[in-house]
Formats: sequence, C-alpha cells, structure tokens
Amino acid sequence: MTKYIGFCLFILLLLFGFYIYQNNLASQRQPLSYDDEQEGLEKQITIRFSHVVAENTPKGLAAQKFAELVSEKTNGQVKVDIFQNGILYSDGEEYEALKRGDVEMIAPSFSKLIDTVPQWKVLDLPFIFNRASQVEAVFAGQTSERLLSMIKDNEVKGLAFWSNGFKQMTNDETPLLEPEDFRGHTFRVMPGSVIEKQFRLLNAYTVVMPFNEVYQGLETREINGQENTISNIYSKRLYQVQQHLTISNHGYLGYAVMVNKQFWDDLPKDIQGKIQEAMRETTLWNMKEAAKMNDQQLQHIKNHSTIQIYHLTEQQKKEWLQTFQPLYKEIEDEIGHDLIELIKSPPDEER
Ligand code: LMR
Repeated sequence: MTKYIGFCLFILLLLFGFYIYQNNLASQRQPLSYDDEQEGLEKQITIRFSHVVAENTPKGLAAQKFAELVSEKTNGQVKVDIFQNGILYSDGEEYEALKRGDVEMIAPSFSKLIDTVPQWKVLDLPFIFNRASQVEAVFAGQTSERLLSMIKDNEVKGLAFWSNGFKQMTNDETPLLEPEDFRGHTFRVMPGSVIEKQFRLLNAYTVVMPFNEVYQGLETREINGQENTISNIYSKRLYQVQQHLTISNHGYLGYAVMVNKQFWDDLPKDIQGKIQEAMRETTLWNMKEAAKMNDQQLQHIKNHSTIQIYHLTEQQKKEWLQTFQPLYKEIEDEIGHDLIELIKSPPDEER
C-alpha cells in the first residue's frame, strides 16, 4: 500500500513538472508588446557637436542650421546635439575629445590645428586672403578637399571648412595703424605658431589663451590687445573692454569641421550621404550669413559703444605686409611655394 501511494505521488510530481515546463515555453513564444519608444531609441543616431563660441555667431548658427538639415534629411533619425560656448571642452581640449570619441563632431579654427596639419599654416599667413570670392573658392571648392585630405590622424575625418570672417585688431592704449604701434603691447593669441610669429614681427608680446577667457584677460589687463573677427568681438563684448579697433582684415578665421572617423565609418552609407548633403548646404549658407553678420555687428558696435574705429589705408597695409615678409619666406621654405599660390589663386574662383 505504501509503495502504491509513493508511486502515485511520483506520477503527480512528474505531471506537475511537465505542466510548469509547458507554461514556460508558451510564455516565451508570446510576442513582446510593441514599444514604439524603444524602437525609436534603437535607430536614433546622435552626433554630439562641441564648439567654443556663442550661438549668435557664424559657427553657432551654422551648427544649428546643420542640425536642422540633418534632422530634415534623415526624417529625425540623426539628431545633432550642440554644446556651445566651450561647455563641454575648451579649444585646447576638443580635438583630443574628438579623437577619443567623447564627442562626434567639432569645428575648431584651422589655426589651432597647424601642429597636426602643418600645411594649414599657409591659411594663417597675414593677408593671404583678401577677397570673399577667394575665401569661397578655397573653402567650398576642390581646394577644400585637398586641404582636408591633409589630416593624417586616423581617428579624424575632415568634412568641410566653415567661415567666420576677416580678423581685426583691438587694443586699449593706442590706435594700431603702423607696425611700430604694436611694439611692447601684449596680445592674446589662439594656439598656432604663425599667429604668434606675426606678433613677434610686430615687436609685440603674446599670451596663448582659450577663447572664453579673453574678456577677463582684457578686463584684468593680463593682455591689452587681441585679434579676432567682428562677430567674436561683438558676441563676447570685447569691444567694451578695448579703446581702439582697427579694421585691418589682416587674417581670416575659418573652421575645419571634423568628425570622429570610427563613428563615421560605422554609419550606414545612405546616412553618410545625407549628412554630407546637409554639410554642403550649410557650408554655402554659412559663408553668406557670416559676411552679413560681421557687417551688421560692426554697425552695432559703431552705434552703441565708444570704441574708436580706424580703417587701414593702402599705404599702411603695404607697411604691414612688408613687415610680414620673413614669415612668408619661412612658410614657403617649410611647405612650398605651390600651396601658397593655390590659396592666393584658387582654381575655381569666379571673379
Ligand atoms: C578664437 O579662439 O579666438 C577663435 O578660434 C574662436 C572661434 O572658434 O571662433
């Protein structure tokens, strides 16, 4: 009898075990409930775009335009998150952050990259750019592709050149008209040996300083002058802590827009195409907007501040150029005459 009861219990346990196993299988076969938020997340691609200037600047606005176009062209699949004013990385940090993949896109001024791409020194030569059509041909034509292909770091891919505008000089003690006027003054420079040498030839001192510290540097008189575009002078209110502004147009501030190479290579080909299309449209848009913006903001500075504004005469410009000749010679010896000529007369310039 005991044996019989034990046998029945054993059969019951077997049946119970089988029932549990079947239930488990059934629940695994049931479809998961549809979660559209999760599906969206899976496909969404985010580009973190870090830069150091304000939103209302040529680069700040170009980044926003690019974000809009990318979203439109990819039906929202690619999202560009913009981090402006150096809130993520300062000028000295952003290139390394891009290489590590901590951000996907940056657009530093090319001056800051000449240790990495020495041929770009040519772009920093004073007065190498002197016409809008020349800037457009270099930045948006075949020359830009040649310049971008000179980036040799494997972690980085160059996508485009964006514009800000011509650089001007400011100082808080004296008008800067003759080369001799610079003697003994201390100027903030962005990183880049050509700009430093430019000031050495003017017998001035230089301090390399991140862009977002320039206002304070001028206010505390750690430096007493600086060079930048009107849009950067305006958006960072540098004109409020300077007495003299010379419209010299002696240099050009442009940006190399770059993407993390691994991130780029992992993108589907059609997405790469759409991003490139958005970049091309933004580049052309940015050039026109930048010129307009610098003009409008110069007008605003004229109307709303006490800074004295001077325009370099042709004779003064000749004297500056004469002073900079050793720098031309040095860069020519280093990177060759051809590249200098290419920038001076780009092949697809329409005059
Ligand atoms: C500067 O450092 O003055 C500029 O390169 C800032 C910028 O990105 O326009």
